[in-house]
Amino acid sequence: MLTEKIDGDVMDAIGRQLKVISNMAVGVDNIDIAAATARQIPVGNTPGVLTDATADQAFALMMAAARRIVEADKFLHADKWVTWSPTLLLGADFTGSTLGIVGFGRIGQAVAKRARGFDMRVLYCSPNAKPAYGAQSVDLDTLLHESDFVSIHVPLKEGTHHLVDKEFLTKMKPHAILVNTARGGVLDQTALYDALKENRIFAAALDVTDPEPLPMDSPLLELENCIIVPHLGSATRQTRDKMSLLAAQNLVAGLKGERLPNCVNEMVYQSG
Ligand code: DGY
Repeated sequence: MLTEKIDGDVMDAIGRQLKVISNMAVGVDNIDIAAATARQIPVGNTPGVLTDATADQAFALMMAAARRIVEADKFLHADKWVTWSPTLLLGADFTGSTLGIVGFGRIGQAVAKRARGFDMRVLYCSPNAKPAYGAQSVDLDTLLHESDFVSIHVPLKEGTHHLVDKEFLTKMKPHAILVNTARGGVLDQTALYDALKENRIFAAALDVTDPEPLPMDSPLLELENCIIVPHLGSATRQTRDKMSLLAAQNLVAGLKGERLPNCVNEMVYQSG
């Protein structure tokens, strides 16, 4: 599971009987891939099958933050609903707004596809990614300056840790909404807290945190303009079934000494 950290020490503790590592996730930041490759151990993951579910979750969070769904639900449960009012719990529009997608791989593209249905202009920033679904490639500064919504879809790796930091948040529009369904480590939570507390951005919605679970004393939990859910991007019955199957297929192939159907370190096959 993505909750298990598998580094070189763990691999060595298992020893020569370790034939394969199969992660039930597309992200493999919990596994030291270089260490596995150096030991000729193939690592499998589960790409593709969770793309739509995760893009749906990014969109659901974006809409919930924009229309203040969680805050409004709490408001009602607290018996604060006195009457309809022209200015009660006003949120943000989707139509005609600009969505900036940071990381334009499978999931980022699936988010762009959904945004077309909402008549949004879509920008993306991702080295080497080709345009798709009418999205326009721009540099990160342009994306942050021009987007009303920013959705993060980069893997956690060297170079993306705390990519969303104080400087990143400062470049966003004051009414912008940030969504993270990638990995908690991509975001500096202290910087996010400050930006939300000082209303330097409108809201954030997080599917992932660092650490997970998020400690109950996290200051982020005090904020009305921050929605946090417990890493549920791929959490639909069908998607989890498909992920389990891919993870099992990788595992069985590895145990049989066959090529993994989805291998993240193909180079292990080059010398052998
Ligand atoms: C992944 O696959 O990397 C997700 O975070 C879990 O669905």
